[in-house]
Amino acid sequence: MSDESSETSGHNRELDALRDGLSRPLREIAAKYFYDDRGSALFERITELREYYPTRTEISILERDAREIMADARAGHLVELGSGAGRKIRLLLDRWEARDEGGRCTMLDVNQSFLDQSIEALARAYPRCAFDGVVGDFTTDLDRIAPSSAPRLTVFFAGTIGNLYPHERLAFFRSIAASMRPEDSLLVGVDLVKDTARLESAYNDSEGVTAEFNLNALRVLNARFDADFDESAFEHRAFFDRAQSWIEMRLRATRATSALVRATGQRVELSAGDEIRTEISCKFTADSLRNDLASAGLALRAWRTDPRHDFALAHIWSAP
Ligand code: SAH
Ligand code: AVI
Repeated sequence: MSDESSETSGHNRELDALRDGLSRPLREIAAKYFYDDRGSALFERITELREYYPTRTEISILERDAREIMADARAGHLVELGSGAGRKIRLLLDRWEARDEGGRCTMLDVNQSFLDQSIEALARAYPRCAFDGVVGDFTTDLDRIAPSSAPRLTVFFAGTIGNLYPHERLAFFRSIAASMRPEDSLLVGVDLVKDTARLESAYNDSEGVTAEFNLNALRVLNARFDADFDESAFEHRAFFDRAQSWIEMRLRATRATSALVRATGQRVELSAGDEIRTEISCKFTADSLRNDLASAGLALRAWRTDPRHDFALAHIWSAP
């Protein structure tokens, strides 16, 4: 397929998925629609909130164990998926022996301007490492990462894997497994199951930043799909569903409201109290992750967690 026609079919797939999500009994949109420049900046603010423990906990694990992780991985090519501001990767780069000797680092994110900025900053800080970026979706575009002969370490921080539905997560693990050689590995950050109050307060912060982040999805839909959702008719809601082991974020209509999504040719009518699901954020245990990995032909070789067992970094390889 030419670049142009593959782009067109990608765009059509995206419109189909949006139309389908907005037609379900519980309307839903993909979590990637939070992340325009404003959404990415709001996420950065979330990472600094008192209630939002995942970022600082994952960083503490990285600070403690990055040297060991890089020694285990023996990588010559680092790949980061959903790289955002690109700060955590520095903790690995700082302890990577190959960095100044032919080391290569690829970042992939949906947000082009965050990607460009982070690559520029990294290239300045680590001038002997070769950086490149892929603007894309980690559920569909992994094949756009140029191959390399060196062993590859793919990292997926933040617990973003938890923003995929279980069937998408399995498809993700399977597609990683299909391209993985015995010398390649995958480092995944996962948020762990814990008491409901701590989980729910992480997604209902007292400053209302998560609410703004959630509502931002409507602005992104309006801009990207020529829609006219009225932000003022919605409120933020987040709760832990223990049976599914996920946090669910929704936008609830506070009054009757409707929106025209011109790109999909759809009118979305909502009564007061109707909701749109905007994100799930799955919470894991070592066993739940092991089960997923086993069904994708992958194996958990190292499980690194903080003293409180809030968050873990799972180092994963092809199953022997
Ligand atoms: N890795 C960073 C950012 C995590 S926020 C950190 O650890 O803090 C999630 C990131 O994933 C955002 O930068 C967002 O733009 C990106 N993202 C979300 N959905 C995506 C998708 N489907 N494909 C690629 N990137 C995605
Ligand atoms: C990016 N991702 C792991 C975050 C999470 O916690 O699921 C996104 C987020 N949603 C609300 N707050 C933060």
